[in-house]
Amino acid sequence: MKTYLVTGGAGFIGSNFIHYLLEECGNDVRVINLDALTYAGNPDNLKDIEKDPRYSFVQADLADREAVFNIIKANPIDYVVHFAAESHVDNSIKDPAVFIRTNVLGTNNLLDAVKEAWETEAAKTKRFLYVSTDEVYGMLPDDGVSFFTEETPFNPSSPYAASKAAADMLVMAYHKTYGFPALVTNCSNNYGPNQFPEKFIPLIITNALKGKKIPLYGSGTNIRDWLFVKDHCRGIHMALLNGKCGERYNIGGHNEKRNIEIIKIIIKTLRELLPENDERRSKITEELIEYVPDRKGHDVRYAINPDKIKKELGWEVETHFEEGIKKTVEWYINNAEWCERVLDGSYREKST
Ligand SMILES: NC(=O)c1ccc[n+]([C@@H]2O[C@H](COP(=O)([O-])OP(=O)(O)OC[C@H]3O[C@@H](n4cnc5c(N)ncnc54)[C@H](O)[C@@H]3O)[C@@H](O)[C@H]2O)c1
Repeated sequence: MKTYLVTGGAGFIGSNFIHYLLEECGNDVRVINLDALTYAGNPDNLKDIEKDPRYSFVQADLADREAVFNIIKANPIDYVVHFAAESHVDNSIKDPAVFIRTNVLGTNNLLDAVKEAWETEAAKTKRFLYVSTDEVYGMLPDDGVSFFTEETPFNPSSPYAASKAAADMLVMAYHKTYGFPALVTNCSNNYGPNQFPEKFIPLIITNALKGKKIPLYGSGTNIRDWLFVKDHCRGIHMALLNGKCGERYNIGGHNEKRNIEIIKIIIKTLRELLPENDERRSKITEELIEYVPDRKGHDVRYAINPDKIKKELGWEVETHFEEGIKKTVEWYINNAEWCERVLDGSYREKST
């Protein structure tokens, strides 16, 4: 039986990862979710497993060094999967300090606490995986032929990306300096259930369902490489179990789309999925698109080369964009209460 510490498990990818673990590992797993429940942490994402005996929750702020050490000391852990972060680029442009506090200092606290615990135990089979981003590599030209590989030098643009790059390098430095059993995955933009509607895809869906304008930065031609969250979770788990410590693995599915294309696809999908007699349907048109001034330092293109994780670990995309976006739009339509509780802020009160 293995015990996983998942940080940031109340967020978008973390909550999907915990569900993935509980589905995949049967009774052979215990999951401890460490999360501060910032505005991005939503207990509703875990409501269905709250009473699962394999799952427990600890509320703590990674920037609180003493709390982190106490939690790690009190819980023997086999695997750490570190998601917790401030994750929204726009917020990092407004207030970088909170990104340094959580993403850099918080990661350093976690590394020190886990390193201390694992030094005193038989640590050979223990693993620490840091969930990083392709944004550490900076941006690619709009040429359709260049891709981020694991060797691409770091060149982050936003304060968010810089804070992730700092933590990513710190994790690797702990491996090189102390032999700490850590590895890193760098993934492209995720989409799927449970994503907070400040992010592009859920913002489009929730605004469109309310007949509200859909803001689109600049000319809308920026390109992102979209990855269905469940495919990402599977890649993380494969890297954790079978990847090599001290290595990084890019995870991405060759799903490049321009932002404007994404909006058009979602509008079309919503119109296909909503019943003919649904009043919202007629208001969901491209008229909702509202061009707004471009994000400062907006990266032109991200695109991942996932050959290493494919070749070495046998990971491949299972959910292609057409299927994934349909599942995602359906999830937001069918989870109106989840959306309402996020939009009116009641998700931050004790869950119902
Ligand atoms: N979403 C993406 O497309 C994407 C792409 C690449 C990498 N990533 C990385 O994956 C990870 C998860 O992303 P996400 O989209 O699920 O993020 P999210 O914003 O949805 O969730 C972040 C979670 O971390 C928690 N958290 C924040 N500060 C904390 C602190 N100080 N202490 C403890 N918990 C804290 C929040 O409460 C929340 O539950 C992040 O590290 C992010 O950088 C995300």
